Amino acid sequence: AADMGKDLSSVLISEAELQAKIKELAGQIDTDYAGQELLLVGVLKGAVMVMADLARALHVPVQMDWMAVSSYGAGTRSSGVVRVLKDLDTDIAGRHVLVVEDIIDSGLTLSWLMNNLKSRDPASVEICALLRKPEAVKVPLDVRYVGFDIPNEFVIGYGLDYAEQYRNLPFIGTLAPHVYGGE
Ligand code: PRP
Ligand code: MN
Ligand code: MG
Repeated sequence: AADMGKDLSSVLISEAELQAKIKELAGQIDTDYAGQELLLVGVLKGAVMVMADLARALHVPVQMDWMAVSSYGAGTRSSGVVRVLKDLDTDIAGRHVLVVEDIIDSGLTLSWLMNNLKSRDPASVEICALLRKPEAVKVPLDVRYVGFDIPNEFVIGYGLDYAEQYRNLPFIGTLAPHVYGGE
């Protein structure tokens, strides 16, 4: 079982900082999509917290849909080849789509997803990512809204997991090395 007193290395972004940034992003999105309807597409599972808070901070009319995707291949991280575990319920043709993600790490998941979504003829498709790591800049990816650029550390909380744990933390923390060092 998780013991946050021991497993957490440090708080990288506090709950208050997260909520302030979500409101700031929502303000930009409200301005940019004024007079339009927006389809928010959350990428399961990591995006659930940012999706829930961002949706509640927006004033433009929104609908919410979800995709679940999984990278596969021999590696432990994204191979760039993605399998769709759950597709959208919605036909996005002619819609203004905003993909909501918790983090861009290598950028390979979103790179693949953007090509997939663009092939469905949406009116527009943009990205809102709460966090972005340095490696992401190596992949050509036009990210319209970014919350925080963060160092290349293992981060958990606010939707982000380590082995499916810690998603429910209301802040972003870094994991103590002993937690994953023994594998
Ligand atoms: C994580 C994260 C992003 C993706 C980023 O999801 O939530 O979706 O990895 O990695 P990339 O930029 O290197 O492709 P994960 O596959 O761990 O699934 P989860 O959201 O269910 O935790
Ligand atoms: Mn994810
Ligand atoms: Mg994960």
